[in-house]
Amino acid sequence: MTVDRKTEHPVDPLFTKRWSPRAYSGEPIDDATLMRLFEAARWAPSASNLQPWRFLYGKAGTAAWQPIFNSLVPFNQSWAAKASVLIAVVSRVRSTPPGKTEKVDNVWHAFDAGAAWQNLALQASLLGWYAHGMGGFDNAALRQALNVPEDHAIHAVAAAPARTRRRGGLRPRVPPRDRRRRGRCHCHPA
Ligand SMILES: Cc1cc2nc3c(=O)[nH]c(=O)nc-3n(C[C@H](O)[C@H](O)[C@H](O)COP(=O)(O)O)c2cc1C
Repeated sequence: MTVDRKTEHPVDPLFTKRWSPRAYSGEPIDDATLMRLFEAARWAPSASNLQPWRFLYGKAGTAAWQPIFNSLVPFNQSWAAKASVLIAVVSRVRSTPPGKTEKVDNVWHAFDAGAAWQNLALQASLLGWYAHGMGGFDNAALRQALNVPEDHAIHAVAAAPARTRRRGGLRPRVPPRDRRRRGRCHCHPA
């Protein structure tokens, strides 16, 4: 399988092979493969190792799939209808840090959930499956449908994973530029 993505600096092909397809075969995902994705997510770093992420999923053909699908905006429904599994990426916004007894706001919960999602997406790609994150969904409707507690944030829905029928049109990236001074920070827009 070829990847027509050119990097400015050498990186492992792991990073350029991952992509977000919209053409899915509809092939069912077996539990062993799905659990490998969640296992990869589990090994993401997190502030104080609190691991605030949660993945709420529904496999195609099960009752759990429909409420997640229903929350998607029409454009996403148009292509995610053949997703093998839909996953809501959620994280706990308040946690009890190590050595403490009271819950406090975990200001890194979203950062950590993003890291876990990326682990999942990369593992999917390595296995020849492809996960596609979506921000286009009705957050409130999904919260109600899945009964997500108030102290959990819903970040995204992932149509994941599904073998794709088509490759091509891989999205490029903004090329790295020189460092710029932004206010008092040196900023590198990678
Ligand atoms: C938080 C987030 C929200 C996204 N929302 C959508 C979405 O609603 N619909 C969609 O088709 N793609 C969505 N995407 C996919 C991006 O468009 C895609 O990752 C980006 O164009 C880069 O392409 P690549 O993932 O193939 O490298 C989203 C990705 C992320 C990370």
